[in-house]
Amino acid sequence: MYVKSTKDILDKANAEYYGVGAFNINSLEFLIGIVSAAVIKRSPVIIQASEGAMSYAGNGDFRKGAKVLADMVRRYADNIPVPVALHLDHGHDLDHVLAAIRAGFTSVMIDASAKPFKENVEITSEVVRIAHAAEISVEAELGKLVGVEDNVSVAERDATLVDPDEAKIFVEKTGVDFLAPAIGTSHGAFKFKGEAKLDFERLRKVKQLTKIPLVLHGASSVLEADVEKANSYGAKIEGAKGVPFDILKEAIKYGINKINTDTDLRIAFIAELRKSLHEKPSDIDPRDFFKPAIEAVKNVVAQRMDILGSSNKV
Ligand code: G3H
Ligand code: 13P
Ligand code: ZN
Repeated sequence: MYVKSTKDILDKANAEYYGVGAFNINSLEFLIGIVSAAVIKRSPVIIQASEGAMSYAGNGDFRKGAKVLADMVRRYADNIPVPVALHLDHGHDLDHVLAAIRAGFTSVMIDASAKPFKENVEITSEVVRIAHAAEISVEAELGKLVGVEDNVSVAERDATLVDPDEAKIFVEKTGVDFLAPAIGTSHGAFKFKGEAKLDFERLRKVKQLTKIPLVLHGASSVLEADVEKANSYGAKIEGAKGVPFDILKEAIKYGINKINTDTDLRIAFIAELRKSLHEKPSDIDPRDFFKPAIEAVKNVVAQRMDILGSSNKV
């Protein structure tokens, strides 16, 4: 079942205090793994595509890629018993946002977080006006995605992480549906130098002041077993660290509802691919290598659905 609005999925999660995974697709194989897990776990799911994924799917043409991805997701979601939404991840300009809306995505992110607050408000408001007219919901971001470290001063932390009072004003002025507040995570496999920790007090205040579904970017857990597997078959991923499951659960208690995950799927996929390439040197059928990699993605997604609390919510 392909849903009209990501908002339906996230409003329900917000009302019932659980998290929904938003999983990035790098290619068809990721989509297959993610949707299979959602069906097994009877979980709602958000598929998301970055600007890079759109461009890749369109062989360099992101508008074409947006349509290819939307068609693919719609076909895959057809006749399955769980809702599937399709979201633009980190849209940085109106061109990508419009391409996603025209292709049939059910929500878009406009990420103007690198710009000054006033400009972020202006750009986000414009996207909200356009998207809402098409019944598409909108996510925006406040603050910068950097790890929280002990040796960082209060002033430095305030300069990078979300300001809860600004978040309240931002949501009121823009009418945005979901907000990604920077609270200490970062993208990729190297999130924390020391102990993993997030600024929950800041998150609590943002939720209290905005009440809308909140999004955790950079939420991958960077599973040790998958990193070791990849490394044992030739990868060089040293010192990787993600957001542990108990911290994800805590973040959901404080009001996070959309949990963005890309890195964990990439690591699981690549680890399995390396393993099967090593084990079947004379096989030239790519599907023999992709199938176990899809299975690995499916297992990571299924496990996260249990952790986030979205399993059996359909
Ligand atoms: O937020 C970042 C996602 O992991 C997407 O990454 O731009 O390499 O597709 P990408
Ligand atoms: P990870 O790199 O932690 O998977 O985060 C993905 C993300 O935030 C996509 O927007
Ligand atoms: Zn992100």
